Amino acid sequence: MPEIKQTPTASEPTTNGATPHSNGAESATLKERQTDAIPPPRGRYAHIVGWGYHVPEKVITNQDLEQIVDTNDEWIRSRTGIAERHVAADPKETSATLAIVAARKALEVADVPANKIDLIICATTTPEYLFPATACLIQDALGADNAGAFDLSAACSGFVYGLAMARGQILAGDAEYVLVIGTETLSRIVDWTDRDTCILFGDGAGAVLVAASEVPGGILSVDLGSDGSGGNTLIVPAGGSAMSTSLETVSSGMHYVKMDGKAVFRFATRVMAASTRKVLERAGYTTDDIDLVVPHQANIRIIQNSVLNQLKIPAEKVFVNLQKYGNTSTASIPIALCEAIEAGKLKPGYKVVFVGFGAGLTWAACALDWRTPVERQAAGWWKSTRRQATYSAAAARSMWKRAVRWVYDVLPDPETPGRDENPKETPETPIKETGGERIKE
Ligand code: COA
Repeated sequence: MPEIKQTPTASEPTTNGATPHSNGAESATLKERQTDAIPPPRGRYAHIVGWGYHVPEKVITNQDLEQIVDTNDEWIRSRTGIAERHVAADPKETSATLAIVAARKALEVADVPANKIDLIICATTTPEYLFPATACLIQDALGADNAGAFDLSAACSGFVYGLAMARGQILAGDAEYVLVIGTETLSRIVDWTDRDTCILFGDGAGAVLVAASEVPGGILSVDLGSDGSGGNTLIVPAGGSAMSTSLETVSSGMHYVKMDGKAVFRFATRVMAASTRKVLERAGYTTDDIDLVVPHQANIRIIQNSVLNQLKIPAEKVFVNLQKYGNTSTASIPIALCEAIEAGKLKPGYKVVFVGFGAGLTWAACALDWRTPVERQAAGWWKSTRRQATYSAAAARSMWKRAVRWVYDVLPDPETPGRDENPKETPETPIKETGGERIKE
């Protein structure tokens, strides 16, 4: 793991992440408690120490969309800022395969092996299945044998929700390394005949590794919000328990995204600014302290209206890449973070805000005191080879476990006599392997 830098100017958050000036009394109580015999948590701060992203190769431009629906490049650019988006055209590319590549890159940047991960949080609106969780498929492909894994459903706010959960686990002392992923194949749930929605979305994945550390800084404050009364403004109506899949739901397109664009727009511009203000206040910062904002990449007008106009944060401090990817939902902030790092927009000591909104309705923001060095050191060939070998071993282990399960299934069961007289009526459901040839790096 890269050495996280400590600076004398860093504000000292307490165990619960609040800065001393935000709650001095609480800070004192916690200090007293720490003198007891209870062992201290593994690290009092949660830092992002690794990052990576991956998008499918296929690009669909606005001009391509002109051939599909009644739209035009000028309308899409002026109303949204989007010029093109990446789409998982290959059926073998799924939310899990995109996520696995992004996650491996994040682990490589952090130089942390997969077996050290304690928890994998996969934020997604396009999971592989209703269950099992996509996070578990990722766990299997990474060979993260010591990790818990779950999917997080908070739509486009999901990645920041995931960071908040990761920070909580770390500050509680329950985890040392948490992998947080946002991954989407929205092209699979978008109605390509609906010009209101199909122009907006794209596919991709981004991942970060969050680590416990004694160095002050990292994720200092979070704000999570929801308003379920607006649930119907952005929804996939069918496929859940409210409206299970049927011939009728499919023929009427109820398994596609439905959106009231204007209502979502109004909501987004309101909560982005309010949530940012909250996390700044909790971290003890003002808008003037901010060096970089990485907002959810949904629409350039939403970003201009909220971050630039309401918060008066100058455009050069706000990272935007939605023109290349469209709205990749949970993946948009981690992809933008990676590209901001590549573009040299993030340095140790920077005060950073991530802020997003999405279906639910939900919103989320967090403020960070970034301490991790961002310059990438080329990994030695032996490290890359060893890393690849561990992934091949993980795939082999996974196959072995499946084989053992199969053997147990076909062997006569001495404890249930007669069980094997009736052969299975339902064929085993195939879960596609994610660790093997489906992943294109
Ligand atoms: N191409 C061309 N014209 C289109 C079009 C398209 N793709 N989509 C809609 N139009 C038309 C409409 O039919 C309407 O025509 P009319 O005036 O003749 O009725 C006109 O353009 C204006 O449509 P309107 O819906 O008022 O546009 P808008 O300025 O509200 O922009 C969105 C629409 C969807 C871009 C905007 O509302 C938005 O971005 N909302 C937020 C969506 C979002 O971020 N969702 C994800 C949340 S995570």
